[in-house]
Amino acid sequence: MYRAPRGTVDILPAEQAYWAFVQSRAAEVCRLYGYERLDTPVFEDYGLFARSDAGGTDLVEKEMYVFEDRSGQKLTLRAENTAPVCRAYVEHGMSNLPQPVRLYYLGPTFRYERPQAGRYRQHHQFGCEALGDPSASLDVEVIELAIGFLTSLGLRQLTVLLNSIGCRQCQPQYVELLRTHYEAISSEVCDDCRVRMVRNPLRLLDCKEPVCRTFADEAPRISEHLCPDCEVHFREVQEQLQVLGIGFTFNHKLVRGLDYYTRTVFEILPKREGGQSAIVGGGRYDGLIEQIGGRSTPGVGFATGIERIILNLKEQGIEAPPLGGPAVYIAHLGDAARLAAVTLSRELRDLQIGVIASTGGKSLKSQLRQANSLGVRYTVILGDDEVARNEAMVRDMTANVQATVPRASLSDHLRRC
Ligand code: HAM
Repeated sequence: MYRAPRGTVDILPAEQAYWAFVQSRAAEVCRLYGYERLDTPVFEDYGLFARSDAGGTDLVEKEMYVFEDRSGQKLTLRAENTAPVCRAYVEHGMSNLPQPVRLYYLGPTFRYERPQAGRYRQHHQFGCEALGDPSASLDVEVIELAIGFLTSLGLRQLTVLLNSIGCRQCQPQYVELLRTHYEAISSEVCDDCRVRMVRNPLRLLDCKEPVCRTFADEAPRISEHLCPDCEVHFREVQEQLQVLGIGFTFNHKLVRGLDYYTRTVFEILPKREGGQSAIVGGGRYDGLIEQIGGRSTPGVGFATGIERIILNLKEQGIEAPPLGGPAVYIAHLGDAARLAAVTLSRELRDLQIGVIASTGGKSLKSQLRQANSLGVRYTVILGDDEVARNEAMVRDMTANVQATVPRASLSDHLRRC
């Protein structure tokens, strides 16, 4: 017996209403903010993610699906979408368009992680990226958009965590301060943190080990070591969020798990408590496009995991609008009726009425049972006698009444109902 690979799930028909709901709200909120859809390939050149400066992140070192194709080219299933969007921006000369370029995406993303509730090896991200403009108002725009999206789904009591991690000017000095702080206590931190001290000191701040949390609490705060430009930028972001009435919690330990962030970083947590609780993660990445070979171009954005959103919708008892299946089931009994069912199905579908026609030689009782379980609005019953009399029986499944309708006016009758 084959099963779906560990950490992946089949999205069954019964789940599709949630997916359609989330995806349509994503598209709608993007339309409101002028973000256009971009679809990038599911696999990319390995180097796009494993940039030399990206060392020390779990994503690159432990979580990527890497493979060689038949020509020996080293490829990676996309482990996130910001670098691919930036690659497409450079490749298609989007810097020649009016800036910022506002893009969004929806699609599968792959990470070799330990699967658990809300954490998968294939998950689906909806995300937005605004490229080519360094303004703080754009940071605020993407945060506002993310919140607008979540609230349009009915999610409430969201917490926005906010921090600034500085830029190429001020961050290195802060990292040195952090290293010095940790050097004095290096024998007390966990093994992972000892590696982080060398490879990725900022990540020391979000170690989940209880003992390391205390050290992180006591560590110097980057917000107190920002250069004047970063300080102004961060102040503007906070002021504009306040003007918009978007509450946020400043968290000096929020550094995010990817290497490319500069200045603003944020996460949005739902009502639910727990380790996997961030449903949105994002921030500014003013150096990334240059790192992948483009001209120095600022960018800011976020991504959210659709599976985690659906999990939260269900936990909060929020239902997705039903998709609405076919309206009509055609039951038939006898050879002439079988043929009549074929032509009637075609006629109704030509009128854009959804039809499920019974197949095989089921009894009328079992056909009606099937119609019931499919939740159709009407069942048309055709027997050879009805066909001979140029009639059909139409059963209204909700009102539980049936009427004989002349064949010639059947389509019209169903269309009007
Ligand atoms: P990220 O925080 O790694 O950021 O992922 C964004 C969101 O994807 C998370 O908040 C979570 O909802 C979802 N997610 C991540 N990993 C998994 C998983 N294994 N299973 C289920 N859901 C998951 C990024 O990917 C950045 N590219 C976001 C960004 C865009 N920053 C700037 N622009």
